[in-house]
Amino acid sequence: MVRLMRRDGGAGYLPALRWRFLTPGYDMVARYTTGERRFKERLLGWADLRPLERVVDLGCGTGTLLVAAGGQEPGPELIGVDRDLAVLRRARRKVQAAAVGVELCLVDARSLPMADGSVDVVVSSLFFHHLLSDAKSLVLAEISRVLGIGGRLAVADWGAPRGGASRVGAGVVRRFDGDEPTRDNLDGRLAELIETAGFDDVIVRARLGVPLGVIEIITATRSLDRG
Ligand SMILES: C[S@@+](CC[C@H](N)C(=O)[O-])C[C@H]1O[C@@H](n2cnc3c(N)ncnc32)[C@H](O)[C@@H]1O
Repeated sequence: MVRLMRRDGGAGYLPALRWRFLTPGYDMVARYTTGERRFKERLLGWADLRPLERVVDLGCGTGTLLVAAGGQEPGPELIGVDRDLAVLRRARRKVQAAAVGVELCLVDARSLPMADGSVDVVVSSLFFHHLLSDAKSLVLAEISRVLGIGGRLAVADWGAPRGGASRVGAGVVRRFDGDEPTRDNLDGRLAELIETAGFDDVIVRARLGVPLGVIEIITATRSLDRG
């Protein structure tokens, strides 16, 4: 079953390929520039999703990660969140074609519709570098709120480039998505931001060289003491 829940699809966010008219090309660009298959497999490996767990994919885009996470029976309960209606329509088509049961929510990740402590795992890929620093902190606070005690966070996103070729690739990402949203990522500060937001066991599990730079996979758990 695919349910598309709508809250707010307003402007004021960075679409998948910066300009909405490019959204139809997103999957192809992601496939060839990010080593998508490899890093998403690794991300899901570290996320270690278990049957019946409630899992939220933040900034789910066209739903590639949700499709990869689905397919087991019984599988986790999958919820995709994005604030772009056009991209969610693509996600809906993909999860329907793959017969994966997913709830898709058209909401801003800064204000999630889930109750406190009601989610087991939050995953996200190539999402945080679309947010300004303040928004990153707000989203991390929301993740902390919706995760139950011991809940897990698994993130894949751009990290600091290493070596000449990856610096060139990172330059392209910076030019394309903008200096401000990409700065924390490309300076290698995403793990630190997650830690500052109060998560425990923040570990950079992998730094994968891909055509456009370096993708970091970071895992963390929701602190037992929320303060
Ligand atoms: C580069 S795409 C990544 C899509 C997908 N996760 C993937 O790995 O292919 C970033 C996504 O984040 C979404 N996004 C950006 N800001 C958002 C926000 N504040 N709340 C929810 N989604 C947001 C965009 O609409 C876009 O679909």
